[in-house]
Amino acid sequence: MRHGVLKSIIVGALVLAAILVFIKLFIPEVTPAPPPKPYSIKDPGEMTIVDLLMLGESTFRGRGSCVRCHDAPGDRAPSLKDILAISIETVRSEEYKGKATDGWAYVLESLIEPDAYIVKGYGKEKSPMPKATRNLSDIEIKAVIAYLKKRSGLKVDLSEELK
Ligand code: HEC
Repeated sequence: MRHGVLKSIIVGALVLAAILVFIKLFIPEVTPAPPPKPYSIKDPGEMTIVDLLMLGESTFRGRGSCVRCHDAPGDRAPSLKDILAISIETVRSEEYKGKATDGWAYVLESLIEPDAYIVKGYGKEKSPMPKATRNLSDIEIKAVIAYLKKRSGLKVDLSEELK
């Protein structure tokens, strides 16, 4: 009888060990994708338009954490996929009381003064969006806007974007 118990303990331990070895060998460990490498900022005088757009994309996906809210699961923020059309429409709408007079000025205003206009359904007097100036430099903000323009299919010109 005692012998039987000992035997089942040993068999049990062997089965467990086999399962652990199997898991280790055959189930790949899932490591989350690393955050994009921050783009090292050059002297704006030495930047090309490609540098600016790369800085814009890495700021958008990385340091600026825009993608944490925008176009992320959970609908925490409006989609930026059609921001070109939406921004023009917003500036022209009656509800808009901010200072921008064109679409991209509206995008800039959304970044530096999120409370100036709050998209319907995302808050009342205070926008849930943090001011981009809190953690981004002037060049990073310009780069994000250039990147959003390019993504909208517009032609971007370096001297125009760095103004
Ligand atoms: C913590 C979440 C959060 C983060 C991070 C965030 N936003 Fe927002 N953003 C929002 C919310 C919520 C709104 C809608 C409320 C408003 O109008 O301010 C918004 C509004 C906007 C708008 C206006 C959209 C429209 O449809 O009119 C733009 C443009 C924008 N964000 C760009 C950005 C960019 C670029 C970044 C990264 C630098 C960013 N946001 C980071 C939450 C966020």
